[in-house]
Amino acid sequence: MPDSRIIQLAQLIASQTSRIDDHIRDNNLAQPSFDAMAPIEPIQHSTPEVERARTDVIEAAIELRQLLEGPVKLLLPEANFAPLAAIHRFDIATHVPADGQISFTDLARKCGLLEHDVKRIVRFAAVHHRVFREPENGFVVHTASSKLLTENQKIRDLLGLTFAECWPAHAPAVDAVAQKSEEPNLSGYALANDTELSTFDFLSQHPDRAQRFASAMSTTSKASLDALSTYYDWTSLPQGSTVVDIGGSQGHVSMHLAQQFPHLRFVVQDKPEVVYGAEGNIPEKIKDRIEFMAHDMFTNQTVAGDVYLLRYVLHDWPDKYCIDILRKLIPTMKKGAKVVIQDHLLPEPGTLPLLQEMQIRSMDTIMLSLFNSREREVEDWKSLFERSNKRFGCFAATRIRENPSTGVIVAEWIG
Ligand SMILES: C[S@@+](CC[C@H](N)C(=O)[O-])C[C@H]1O[C@@H](n2cnc3c(N)ncnc32)[C@H](O)[C@@H]1O
Repeated sequence: MPDSRIIQLAQLIASQTSRIDDHIRDNNLAQPSFDAMAPIEPIQHSTPEVERARTDVIEAAIELRQLLEGPVKLLLPEANFAPLAAIHRFDIATHVPADGQISFTDLARKCGLLEHDVKRIVRFAAVHHRVFREPENGFVVHTASSKLLTENQKIRDLLGLTFAECWPAHAPAVDAVAQKSEEPNLSGYALANDTELSTFDFLSQHPDRAQRFASAMSTTSKASLDALSTYYDWTSLPQGSTVVDIGGSQGHVSMHLAQQFPHLRFVVQDKPEVVYGAEGNIPEKIKDRIEFMAHDMFTNQTVAGDVYLLRYVLHDWPDKYCIDILRKLIPTMKKGAKVVIQDHLLPEPGTLPLLQEMQIRSMDTIMLSLFNSREREVEDWKSLFERSNKRFGCFAATRIRENPSTGVIVAEWIG
C-alpha cells in the first residue's frame, strides 16, 4: 500500500532536513536558532540545493500542519497582529537591554504603558512570533527577532509599513471591495485613514510616513536588483543612453544599475518629498551619472529617455491609471524607446511552489488594501500597453527563473 500523504510529508521533512543539517555540520555553521545571538540568515552560505531543501521542508510542514489541524482551524487562523503593531508603535524592543533581562514592571514604566498590557503583548509575541522570551516568570530578554528591531532601522521601517500602514487597511478593504470601485482613493487604506486622497497623495501630506515607506522599499533584495540587471540587456544600449527611473524612490535601483553599467545615465523621478535630499546618498563614483527630479508621472514626461523604467510602480495603480501613466510618456518618446517594467507576474493557480504562490497572492491582496490596485498576469500587462496606444509594440514578458512570481516586461515605442 502506498504511504499516506501525511507519511510522505513527514518523510520529505526528515530527508530534506538531514540535507540542511549536513550542510551546517560539514561547514561548521551555526544551527538555526531563536537566540538573540543567532545570525539573521537562518542557514549561512546556503547553496541552491540547500535552499531547495529548506523550501521543501517549509512547504511540507505547512501542509502537514494544515492537514492535522483540520478544516475549522483553516477557516479560523490566528490573525491578530495588534501585539506586533504595539511592539512597533511603543518601541518596546529598544527598552529591553541588549544583554540581560528586564522585569515587566520596569519595561512598562519605560514604555509608558500599563504593566498588564505590556505583559500580554510580550507573551503573545513570544509564543506566536518568537519575538522576546521570558527566561523566568516576569522577566523579558531578546530573541534574534526582537534584537533586530534595536539595531536595524530598515527592519523597523518594514515593520512600520506592515503594521502601521498595511494592517489597519486590511479589514476596511472588505468595505472597499463592496464599493466595486476602480478608484485608488476607494481603498482599505483610504477608509482606514478617513481620507479621500489616494495612498501616495495621503503620504505626501505625512512626510515622516512617506520617508518610512521609501526606506522600507529600499530593503528590496539584491537578488531582485541583480535580476533586473540580467533580464534586460542593458549593454545593448548605446553609450550615454538615458534611463528614466519613474517612481524611482530614493534611487536605490538606479544606483545599482549605474554601478554595473558605466555607459548609462539615470534620471530618478518621484514625488518631491521622496527625492528631496536623495543626492546625498549617491556614492561618489557614480554621482555624475545620476540625477534626481521631482516629477508627477500623471503629467507629461519631460525627459527624452532611451528607457523608461517602472519598477514596482504600476502594480500600485488600477488599470485606468496605469494607462494614463503610459500615455504620459508618449509626447517625449523617441522611436525605438523602451518601457522596461520589473513587477509581479501572477501565475496560473497551482503552477508555482506553495510558498511562492502564497507570497504572490499575499502581495496581490496587499495591493488591494493599500491602493485598490492589483497584481497582473502576462495577458493583463499586454492589454495595458494595447489599451494605452497601438504604437507600443514588441511586447515581451519574461519570468525571473529565481523568483518566477516576478518578471521583466518590455515594450517598444514603434512610433
Ligand atoms: C512601490 S514604490 C517603488 C519604488 C522603486 N521603483 C522600487 O522599485 O523600489 C512606488 C513609487 O512610486 C512613487 N510614486 C507614487 N505616485 C507618484 C507620482 N504621481 N509620480 C511619481 N512617483 C510616484 C512613490 O513615491 C514610490 O516611490
